[in-house]
Amino acid sequence: MTTLPSLQQLVPKHVAIIMDGNGRWAKQRGKLRTFGHKAGAEAVRRAVAFARRNGIQSLTLFAFSSENWQRPEKEVSVLMDLFMTVLKREVKKLHENNIKLTIIGDTTRFSERLQRQIRTAEEKTAANTALTLNIAANYGGQWDIANAAKALAQKVEDKQLRSSDISTELFAQQLQLAGQPSPDLLIRTGGECRISNFILWQAAYAELYFTPVLWPDFDDQTFSQAIAEFAKRERRFGLTSEQLDSVMQTLETRVEE
Ligand code: IPE
Ligand code: IPE
Ligand code: MG
Repeated sequence: MTTLPSLQQLVPKHVAIIMDGNGRWAKQRGKLRTFGHKAGAEAVRRAVAFARRNGIQSLTLFAFSSENWQRPEKEVSVLMDLFMTVLKREVKKLHENNIKLTIIGDTTRFSERLQRQIRTAEEKTAANTALTLNIAANYGGQWDIANAAKALAQKVEDKQLRSSDISTELFAQQLQLAGQPSPDLLIRTGGECRISNFILWQAAYAELYFTPVLWPDFDDQTFSQAIAEFAKRERRFGLTSEQLDSVMQTLETRVEE
């Protein structure tokens, strides 16, 4: 008798998601774009709970890109308020669930109050081990790489490092996601097939999964489909699709009420 691998062996260690489609979701309902962002925050909560239940080690969510400042002022300010409210409301729950929160991106452009809130949340959850939740806010992949180059150049200038010592490994240690495994699955919702300046360096070997589902509609079912597709592409352990399907059925999903 053959023993099938556990779900744990088949789920990706690190999932990154470009959460796109909030505006269109709202428009379809005749509402303002900001209504879509609020619904999007609920989808974030679901995705985090799903990752936690199914043993994903890191979840990286693209919440606000360095290019998103160019959106109408009102939309940006609603997004900032939402970010603040969600941080305040959810940190306790994240902590109770042993989830470590980190914010990746250039947070210096945020209000002093928001920066303080971020620091408090990161410090409170720093020692948690079940899941690392990285929220990319004012993040850009090119910025991340340029920033790493700057840090290394400074070390060379300070004579702590020789330029000949710079390797891909050393470079990666300067990036925002240093110390975490690179995402093995990168999901984008909302139907566009581009990376939009997300984790450029770390996406080098990620499986890319594009779905037309708009972010506020992304639920356990759609998350499971992405994971099942990932497991199929990986063809780990030389299993048949039927065997994979049977393991995938053990993914813990919840029926939305
Ligand atoms: C993604 O949804 C959320 C953010 C970029 C903050 P969008 O706001 O881009 O929604 P669409 O793509 O316009 O539908
Ligand atoms: C990407 O979505 C950024 C986030 C999901 C935060 P956008 O809607 O901003 O990307 P483009 O403009 O379609 O490339
Ligand atoms: Mg968009």
